[in-house]
Amino acid sequence: MSPAPSEEVVLFPESLLTAAAHPDPYPYYAALLAYRPFYQEHRLGLWVALGAQEVAETLASEAVRVRPLAEPVPAAIKGAPAGDIFKDLVRMNDGHRHAQAKAAVGACLRAFDPAQTTAIARRDAPALARTLAVKHRQGLDLFNFALPVRVVAQLIGLPEDMAGQCAALVGDFVRCLSPISTPDEIARSNRAAESLLQLLRDEWRRSSHGGLAAHVERLRDLGLDTSDAVLANLVGFMSQTYEATAGLIGNALLALAGQPQLRRRVASDDALLQRVIEEVVRHDPSVHNTRRFVAEDCTIAEQILKPGDQILVVLAAANRDPARCERPHVFDPDRADRSSFTFGAGRHACAGQAIATAIAAAGIQALTTHGLDIAALSGPVAYRRSVNSRIPLFGGAA
Ligand code: HEM
Repeated sequence: MSPAPSEEVVLFPESLLTAAAHPDPYPYYAALLAYRPFYQEHRLGLWVALGAQEVAETLASEAVRVRPLAEPVPAAIKGAPAGDIFKDLVRMNDGHRHAQAKAAVGACLRAFDPAQTTAIARRDAPALARTLAVKHRQGLDLFNFALPVRVVAQLIGLPEDMAGQCAALVGDFVRCLSPISTPDEIARSNRAAESLLQLLRDEWRRSSHGGLAAHVERLRDLGLDTSDAVLANLVGFMSQTYEATAGLIGNALLALAGQPQLRRRVASDDALLQRVIEEVVRHDPSVHNTRRFVAEDCTIAEQILKPGDQILVVLAAANRDPARCERPHVFDPDRADRSSFTFGAGRHACAGQAIATAIAAAGIQALTTHGLDIAALSGPVAYRRSVNSRIPLFGGAA
């Protein structure tokens, strides 16, 4: 029997590579996880880790890398400005180089005072909300993408006017990081990479006694070996923030839009808003998967893997593994057993979690104060085309 015209039928995603941008990928993840928490997906030529234990084991394995051994920098950007940044990013390296950079980057990010992040976000968000007319859906999308980069740019010592410039440039730069980028996007990414590096170099020289220069010197003292590596990772702070935090704000707005009672309680309770954001991180995360590349013979989840094998690590599925948390599909800001893989785990775990959640909270507060009707956001929404991130586009797909 065919459904009545008013009934909406949401099918499973076509594959794990389209799931992140699907209206509701979670029943699909749950079905795959119940079938097998770690298996070989021959159609995609990938191993897939979905269970919490299997995801943790994959991310902890010494035998896997974040890039294929034969292609540390994607061929499309190798030797170009975007590739020059990419090759030095802590996120894209392994072994000694990664350990050294991670110690510096981790210490630098942890030293950013959460209160300072909140203060910058609370100062910046209202002005941005006014300028971008966030009551209109296109304005809201611009806000969600711009605010996180603007705040991180100011945390690393850039003046406010440059922070806005960075947000636009980072938006172009990150296009090269996706396996589905077009040649035109790669070209824009290279131009943006060049401009970002130039902007940071100029500001570093100008601000020799404070601001950006202080952070550059600090990262050098902490062990980042070259100026290029320092500048690349400062761009990395902004690019790691960009899509993931825009998605966090958007997915939190959707959670609130669908729950009127919760929305009313959050309006007068900052601590509850923080718990709502943490539950969104688990329940409807902005980053759904990451990849690992097998570098040596190994066994993961009792399966024998060979060098050259690829593993799709489905963080969003592991977040809802019933072996890890009770009632995994229920959105419960007050749950005591909350844990998630959304910020990764193991050697490459994200050090920006506190920054991201502080920005999201300040952003949502500013949107509410500036008259955004969150209730009106409920209902179907388009998601940005992506193989790994889940970012609602309230103004419609770009
Ligand atoms: C909601 C927001 C965010 C999410 C969901 C997120 C998620 C992640 C994930 C999953 C990883 C690990 C990737 C992997 O192991 O393959 C990662 C790494 C990283 N993130 Fe985040 N992130 C967010 C925000 C931020 C922010 C705000 C910053 C900095 C200001 C940041 C900086 C980094 C860095 C530097 C790494 C690389 C760590 C390493 O490779 O050792 N992230 N992030």
